[in-house]
Amino acid sequence: MIRGGRVAVIGSVNQDVVCEVARLPGPGETVLASASRTNLGGKGSNQAVATAKAGGSVQFIGRIGRDPVTESLRGAMTRAGVKTTGLREVPDVRTGTAYIAVAAGDNQIVVDPGANFVWESDAELTAMAEAELLAAADVVVAQFEIPLRVVTWAAGLAGRFVLNAAPAAQFDDELLRRCDPLVVNEHELSEISGMPTGSREQAGSAAHSMCLRGARSVVATLGAAGSVWARRTDGPHEVEVVYQQAPQVVSVDSTGAGDAYVGALSSALAAGLDLGEAVGFATAAASISVRSTGTHTSYPTHAQVAAVLAEVPPARPIRLPYLIETRFTAI
Ligand code: RIB
Repeated sequence: MIRGGRVAVIGSVNQDVVCEVARLPGPGETVLASASRTNLGGKGSNQAVATAKAGGSVQFIGRIGRDPVTESLRGAMTRAGVKTTGLREVPDVRTGTAYIAVAAGDNQIVVDPGANFVWESDAELTAMAEAELLAAADVVVAQFEIPLRVVTWAAGLAGRFVLNAAPAAQFDDELLRRCDPLVVNEHELSEISGMPTGSREQAGSAAHSMCLRGARSVVATLGAAGSVWARRTDGPHEVEVVYQQAPQVVSVDSTGAGDAYVGALSSALAAGLDLGEAVGFATAAASISVRSTGTHTSYPTHAQVAAVLAEVPPARPIRLPYLIETRFTAI
């Protein structure tokens, strides 16, 4: 049973304005939508909802405007089982808004961060209830839709720290050393590591290199191809690298699938699962989320994930012979 851990998610909450289009527009191009809707979004809030639905006990810490959407967004999180005492309203600033085009399982997103970037100083935060919420959690989860300094502050208070470095941004090795794991997709991993990630072996090498730079573990998601994870060990190979294939499904809408993955992963880690088992659980959750439209409405419950776990193929080690002898200094 993968339940019961305490997770604190610190991150963004957005109103998503979603347009369904036949194909994504190119630069300078206008396309007509066949349908549109607004719903709760933001990588932080999506991950909090995904964690709660997957069985975790979740505190959300974030910043929202005081405007007509505030109550409906807070209500949607609460109904999903997320505690929102750490979600504070910022007067005179708009709630974050994401403009999303969805076409044939693909998407394009532009975020206006608004209140997500309006936070107190670190010293003020440390004296607020947010610090206690972070310190009390088994796992703290953050992303980069809030200021980097707030992510760094939260990492310093975390027991176990999961960083979803999305959207991709450069950050220092001190923060990298806190990550267990760093979770990135193949594009973000390439940008952060400076290495190619076009194949699973390349992604494995890049994840391996991030472990050598200091991350305790790294999970790289590869869309329909599954994911690769790497972890520092005390064993003879020092960093193990493993490929986890995903079940083959028809993807209707991949918006927020990465958030479903991070939420389920965090829930499983907080419940005490090993990283490899948690990756299997997250893989099952993400494979369910892409089968229907929307973000948090497509996220599976714990029972739904458990029902498809048997469809997740066994994980297998990736051997990277030219890297295996590389040494690193344990931090
Ligand atoms: O990861 C998907 C999310 O990214 C959307 O909900 C949108 O709000 C953006 O933050």
